[in-house]
Amino acid sequence: MSKKILVLCGSPRKHGNTDLLSDAFLKGASEAGFEAEKIYIRDKQINGCMGCSVCQKNGGSCVQKDDMAEIYKKMTAADIIVLASPVYFYTWSSQMKTLLDRSFAMEQTLKNKVFYLISAGAAPTKDYMKTMQICFEQYVDCFRRGGNQIGGSVFGLSADRSGAVSGSDEERQAYELGKNMR
Ligand SMILES: Cc1cc2nc3c(=O)[nH]c(=O)nc-3n(C[C@H](O)[C@H](O)[C@H](O)COP(=O)(O)O)c2cc1C
Repeated sequence: MSKKILVLCGSPRKHGNTDLLSDAFLKGASEAGFEAEKIYIRDKQINGCMGCSVCQKNGGSCVQKDDMAEIYKKMTAADIIVLASPVYFYTWSSQMKTLLDRSFAMEQTLKNKVFYLISAGAAPTKDYMKTMQICFEQYVDCFRRGGNQIGGSVFGLSADRSGAVSGSDEERQAYELGKNMR
């Protein structure tokens, strides 16, 4: 059975750089035989975590009733989870951060996933992406007890205007990353 990929796309900008890099990754992945689904977080109604910690005592069920219910199911069913977010003030977009906070409910139940980061920013070098990379690594580290791990990351650079990554080296890197997943 082919492995399942879930791409959580956290840019509010449709067909922007995060989207283009995600699509390149997915093209490589589908050529390699993976099964994929992409979700646009901006189309979902996801409330902020209330910090009540009820989920930590009841086996991981969030008290809020919104579109996170389907995302919890899809994250559980996936083998590979791609966090795709533009760099906003050095870190996640608010759409992605809201979803990640709500994944607190899965801290004890999410098992054996491989996480990838796809990101784009206006800055010209990877030095400016350090905070984002660390946020990604430390997020996955919070789930380490379940055997969850990092697969890789790719950053679109000098990507201010929508579509700037089109034809770039980073777009090719995203394709290769998807194609060479195991
Ligand atoms: C609110 C906001 C904050 C941003 N902060 C950064 C930043 O800290 N570093 C950076 O390199 N680019 C930053 N940018 C630029 C975006 O990351 C860049 O335009 C990116 O390509 C957007 O991705 P998208 O096309 O998928 O929407 C910011 C843009 C916005 C709107």
